[in-house]
Amino acid sequence: MPEYLPTAPYRGTRDFLPPEMSVRTQVFDHLYEVLERYGYQRYDGPILESAEIYEKKSGQEIADQQLYTLTDRGGRRLALRPEMTPSVARMIAGNAGSLQFPVRWYSHPNCHRYERPQRGRVREHWQINADIFGSDSANCEIEMFELIHDLLRGVGATEDMFVVRANDRNLLSAALTDVVGVTAEQLPQVFSLVDRWEKYDRDTLAKQAEEIGLADKQFGKLGDVLGAGTALLDELPAAVKEASNLVTVLGTEAAGLIRFDPMIVRGLAYYTSTVFEVFDTSPENNRALFGGGRYSDLAGMFTSQQIPGIGFGMGDVTLMDFLATHELTPKPRSEVDVVVVPVSAELAGAARKVATELRGAGLRTSTPLELRKLGKELSRADKAGARAVVIVGQEDWDAGNVTVRSLGTREQQTVPLGQAAASVRAHLA
Ligand code: HAM
Repeated sequence: MPEYLPTAPYRGTRDFLPPEMSVRTQVFDHLYEVLERYGYQRYDGPILESAEIYEKKSGQEIADQQLYTLTDRGGRRLALRPEMTPSVARMIAGNAGSLQFPVRWYSHPNCHRYERPQRGRVREHWQINADIFGSDSANCEIEMFELIHDLLRGVGATEDMFVVRANDRNLLSAALTDVVGVTAEQLPQVFSLVDRWEKYDRDTLAKQAEEIGLADKQFGKLGDVLGAGTALLDELPAAVKEASNLVTVLGTEAAGLIRFDPMIVRGLAYYTSTVFEVFDTSPENNRALFGGGRYSDLAGMFTSQQIPGIGFGMGDVTLMDFLATHELTPKPRSEVDVVVVPVSAELAGAARKVATELRGAGLRTSTPLELRKLGKELSRADKAGARAVVIVGQEDWDAGNVTVRSLGTREQQTVPLGQAAASVRAHLA
């Protein structure tokens, strides 16, 4: 017995067969359309980057546990990109001289992370990235929040289906230091504890807090801070609030687009102030969909110029789960609108002519590559989702006609070739 290789893709990666690809294309086209309506321009970059850019800036989880690394034949250490932000920061830094800041850019890369595959998590995902570079203004935050709402509306969601939870890391730092009494050395560990807050039960969190060195009383206060909502702002120094773009946003009409939530910190190391995470509100899919934040000095890896950025990454897996939960997943498109069937091998050339005519009129048209009985072709065309079949018979053809048959009603009529497209179109409606 010959040994065959597996046909399944590598664990945590996915094949997309045409029906699934058709669904994805429809969803992503809506998103691209919204992004372009806001003036975001699409860019792309290599899937391979120097491993260093993630090790320096993305944080320990990505660098130590999730990076796919390799050494090329010249001994250079490379990584498959786990995210797009360091790459786009590199592009922005390298081209800063010719760009008119602020710039709005978007992309749709595939990203690789070595994670344990589970619901919402895979090893290769596609991520829509939208970022603004070169502005510190709170208007950027507002635009990001508006954009997120419009993107989700663009794929059919309504406001009740999701919530944008936003925070500012500097507000949280101030609260942890001033209210909870966390020391500067403890701060990074407490941030990472906050990031896990909703994933663990109270006892586990208390144990982890103890390991960091927080007293029971401090742990209690930490819980109060994280659950305080906007009331927390009353306890913070005026100077910290004045410096916060998020506090500015909360004082505008855009406040209604978000919920201020001190618990949001996000895992990546490079965020410097505003952070936000979009959640599904359905109890069946009670999870984070996507997120982002502001990073004031990521470009600083590549240039002395200070170029702030703000943006988010929206993953395809969580988005598709969201759409499925709310029954918003579009149907795959049919393969074709119409199939042109010659009744004999001699008429294959005539069928190709008819097909050319129909394609010219914008109809998605195929003709059989192998001749089968008419009945078989009709059933194949039906399975392919065609709404009509154009039958090319010798007598009709000699008279300049073809027969258009509806696959729905099975009615058919003989029409001059010039009217075939209009006749097919009548069956598409
Ligand atoms: P992130 O939170 O690591 O942020 O990823 C953003 C989104 O990508 C996640 O919320 C999720 O939708 C998706 N995602 C990430 N990892 C996986 C995975 N293993 N499987 C499936 N989906 C995944 C970033 O990557 C930032 N670079 C986003 C950003 C852009 N911040 C500013 N600009």
